Amino acid sequence: MDNKTTPGAGEWSGVIESYSSFLPVNRQTPVITLMEGNTPLVRARNLEKKLGCPARLYLKWEGMNPTGSFKDRGMTLAVSKAIEEGARGFVCASTGNTSASAAAYAARSGYPCYVLIPENAVAMGKLAQSLMYGATVINVRGNFDQALQMVLDIVESRPVTLVNSLNPYRLEGQKTSSFEICDILGEAPHTLFIPVGNAGNITAYWNGFREYRSAGLSSRLPRMCGFQAAGASPIVQGERVENPETVATAIRIGNPASWKSAVDAARDSGGSISTVTDQEILEAYHLLASQEGVFVEAASSASVAGLSKTLQENPGAFKEGDDVVCVLTGNGLKDLQLAIDNCPQPVTIGADISELEKVMELR
Ligand code: F0G
Repeated sequence: MDNKTTPGAGEWSGVIESYSSFLPVNRQTPVITLMEGNTPLVRARNLEKKLGCPARLYLKWEGMNPTGSFKDRGMTLAVSKAIEEGARGFVCASTGNTSASAAAYAARSGYPCYVLIPENAVAMGKLAQSLMYGATVINVRGNFDQALQMVLDIVESRPVTLVNSLNPYRLEGQKTSSFEICDILGEAPHTLFIPVGNAGNITAYWNGFREYRSAGLSSRLPRMCGFQAAGASPIVQGERVENPETVATAIRIGNPASWKSAVDAARDSGGSISTVTDQEILEAYHLLASQEGVFVEAASSASVAGLSKTLQENPGAFKEGDDVVCVLTGNGLKDLQLAIDNCPQPVTIGADISELEKVMELR
């Protein structure tokens, strides 16, 4: 096959070069890339059985990006375009993944990066990434929404480029995941399940599916089904949440920046934006790891929690032969504390074979 989605060794060159005809780049754009994209689309047969899903279920495993989340797709474009336009530094507010990605791409660009994160509400791995990549990390005694407002204020007076998803290049880059899904399946899926936080990603996927169909590279559009955590569900409730709370810290957001476009995507596609509880999120988090060997962060499992809930409420939601994709946005290794706190603890034994035999008999 000479199809760009099945590159041979060394052929993949990142999302900008692979999809340049769909992106606002030109020959002068300096491409800052970590070879992001081209992530696995994993068939999840065990989950199909477990959840009673008659459709083919695929997991778009975005935690396999270079900094461990989907943010890299948008960050390569945002940083490259900023450099092209003369930027000399970057700033963002983040629940952790945007900051990790911004810090990494800024490091490659050679310009400074300032990241504002809500104090004590960002997973340790994400904090470690931003520090290691050399960003100036600023803990804000407040939540993500407050940090985002501060960043919007500071870019008015300082020569730094905002790389939150309000930067339109972020969503342009993120839409490439839809292209990859269509390229692999040979068509758009029937339904897409996706976590919703600041609501940029659901907007980006919807843009991507529409552009591919307009270009004649797919013939249908998926139903877009977005899921917020119940304690951080402003879109579902129809009003801002002042103090969002959820175990899925990545989507602990009370006033999403792309609120309107997310609502449009759900409505225009015949889909919906709904909630899943923290308990449902944690159940899906365990199911993904224990049934499919895919370790995601809690926020990512909101898509699978949403699928599970949909099937419980309406077992006839999908037909045999349908393609359903759950987007898994981030890598489980980013938040090891959450994983360890939610699993049975290891058994400790002496260096003695009889003790080992005893443990294995019990299992
Ligand atoms: N999943 C993960 C792992 C995320 O980090 C985010 C957002 C989302 C889902 C939601 O995506 O905001 O486009 O609706 N994280 C942002 C951050 C807010 O700062 O890292 P969205």
